[in-house]
Amino acid sequence: MTPCRHFGVCGGCSLQDLSPEAYRARKRDSVVAALVAVGLGNVTVEETILVPQKTRRRAVFKIAKNREVVEIGFHAQRSHDIVDMHECLVLTPSLLALADVLRQALAPIFNPGEKAELHVNESDTGFDLAFRCERKLTPVMTSMLAKALAGKGIARILFNGDVLMENAAPSITLHGSKLALPPQAFLQATREGEAMLQERVLALTGTAKNIADLFAGLGTFTLALARKAKVHAVEQDGAALSALAAAARATPGLKPVTTERRDLFKVPMTPAELKPFNAVVLDPPRAGALGQAKALAASQIGRIVYVSCDAASFSRDAAILVEAGFRPGSVTPIDQFLYSGHIELVAGFERSRKL
Ligand SMILES: C[S@@+](CC[C@H](N)C(=O)[O-])C[C@H]1O[C@@H](n2cnc3c(N)ncnc32)[C@H](O)[C@@H]1O
Repeated sequence: MTPCRHFGVCGGCSLQDLSPEAYRARKRDSVVAALVAVGLGNVTVEETILVPQKTRRRAVFKIAKNREVVEIGFHAQRSHDIVDMHECLVLTPSLLALADVLRQALAPIFNPGEKAELHVNESDTGFDLAFRCERKLTPVMTSMLAKALAGKGIARILFNGDVLMENAAPSITLHGSKLALPPQAFLQATREGEAMLQERVLALTGTAKNIADLFAGLGTFTLALARKAKVHAVEQDGAALSALAAAARATPGLKPVTTERRDLFKVPMTPAELKPFNAVVLDPPRAGALGQAKALAASQIGRIVYVSCDAASFSRDAAILVEAGFRPGSVTPIDQFLYSGHIELVAGFERSRKL
């Protein structure tokens, strides 16, 4: 593979210099090593499934004006310098092209030395941009920016939390349900990864008719599962839950969906609360779900589907479930964080119901 011209400098990628075979093996080995470290070396880890290059639809760009030039990209490796990005094997071509549009648009607005951070989601209706910057924009600058970005595929711009421009309500489609995207919402990194995860979550939950989806976010899994089962979605982000509830209401033919705003780190679902469910899906952030894993271990639940973006915290939690009698199915690594050290994975766990 020909590495990107920024490889070796840009902190976004670290693994482009491996052969395709060695690369796939490296990702799988990282999952195996994490499982071995907690005594689960006997768990089967499937071959790594890769998403295609140039499919990543969300990014956090660093921006700085260096003399007259606006630089946009990711931090350099082990540095706060910005690598001004003109090529990328990971981002969608439209997201990369957006960097160039912004370079031009921001040049007359930013002062030399000024910095900003930009969170971008590529929605079905255009880019959803959220800038964080130390200063406010004047009305003149706002209209300059709006003019420079008109017709460039931008749905909405937020600047320090305020809506600066909304050409179209940003929306996405999750398993056939249309959903209004809250600002800076969590989306799976790629559409392809999202579809693969949904497919596995649907398969691994089997015939369960009442499912709890923990760390549900916008409902990537809730809205897929609700085609076949009643789903209770639990999540701490209220805006995500409201968007999910509205999307569920607007989708004909779904089984009932309920939502609950809750900090699952501080207040995990208790064994008593988990009693009505035949299966639990959980997809926590990188820290994993230690408290929730302990509560699942102590519960009557017989089927769990665990989606994770961190092999170490997943393995730690898996060991708790195995200790409580769960049999782990095979673990499928889905590489939707191409060329980085990160990996997404999904695994099912089953046990006979405790008496
Ligand atoms: C990896 S995302 C998964 C979201 C969703 N399952 C999806 O696939 O789009 C993790 C989710 O956990 C939520 N989260 C983070 N910390 C949490 C906490 N302490 N309690 C409940 N939810 C939390 C985040 O807001 C985010 O939506």
